[in-house]
Amino acid sequence: MNNIEHKTLLTLQNLDVFYKHQQILSKVNLSLKQGEILGIIGESGCGKSTLLKSIIGILDKQNATIQGKITYQDLDLLQIKSDNWSTIRGNKIGMIFQNAQDTLCPIRTIKDHFIETVQQHHKISKQEILQQTLILFDKLNLKNGQDILNSYPFELSGGMCQRVEIALSIILKPALLLADEPTSALDTISQSQVIKELLLINQLFNTSIIIVTHNINIVKKIAHNIAIIEQGHIIEYAPTSQIINSPKKSYTKKLLNSVLYLNRG
Ligand SMILES: Nc1ncnc2c1ncn2[C@@H]1O[C@H](COP(=O)(O)OP(=O)(O)OP(=O)(O)O)[C@@H](O)[C@H]1O
Ligand SMILES: [Mg+2]
Repeated sequence: MNNIEHKTLLTLQNLDVFYKHQQILSKVNLSLKQGEILGIIGESGCGKSTLLKSIIGILDKQNATIQGKITYQDLDLLQIKSDNWSTIRGNKIGMIFQNAQDTLCPIRTIKDHFIETVQQHHKISKQEILQQTLILFDKLNLKNGQDILNSYPFELSGGMCQRVEIALSIILKPALLLADEPTSALDTISQSQVIKELLLINQLFNTSIIIVTHNINIVKKIAHNIAIIEQGHIIEYAPTSQIINSPKKSYTKKLLNSVLYLNRG
């Protein structure tokens, strides 16, 4: 993994999120440097996806209330109006989800996805976009790029779809990539390819990454720091080696043990 720069990219200060009257996140404080990979671990329902959605401004507006401060570069994200989010989402902050086959449009080719994504932000010809995409595929070791571009999502394996989705999320070179359980729907070989791809992106473009995962082996391998969430509170937040080798909270120990146990099973 890359060396972290001194420059801070993202800070969350006293972030509270409520769905109706239920508090989901409580006084969350986090800070991410350029080039840093942060792993987020916690039980199902503790608020991990809510945290990522808050950062990229896609919380369910009908139900959610958000308080506190999120600063990205010099932008105060909670003050950004919905119309202006389109210049940030995808362009400055990218996000990938658990199952790319659900997020890619089934009736459009991979080529169309790249063209649309880039043209939303830049006036560039289709041909130039496809050239840039093939160069990116090459850097990310995605073989037979032209065939991939001509495919529909259903013609690709789940693992390949996820790798293409990651390439799509990075085509505009956002400084931050949010990854919500990017490997949990995949077999072990595809998991390892996806993780290699994320590490490569971090190394090639110095992209900061926040990765939510249940797989402790993954965070061990790629994260500089880990935050443990219990019922919406960050209860432990430290460099990866410290969390893995000498966790302070009993909840963290319990979580690490259960995850290690599951991985062995
Ligand atoms: N749109 C919503 N409206 C109301 N409650 C919601 C909404 N989205 C999520 N929640 C609730 O917020 C809590 C946190 O959900 P979240 O999806 O952030 O958890 P998570 O840690 O990502 O869980 P998992 O590991 O299962 O993905 C859960 O109790 C969930 O039911
Ligand atoms: Mg989730």
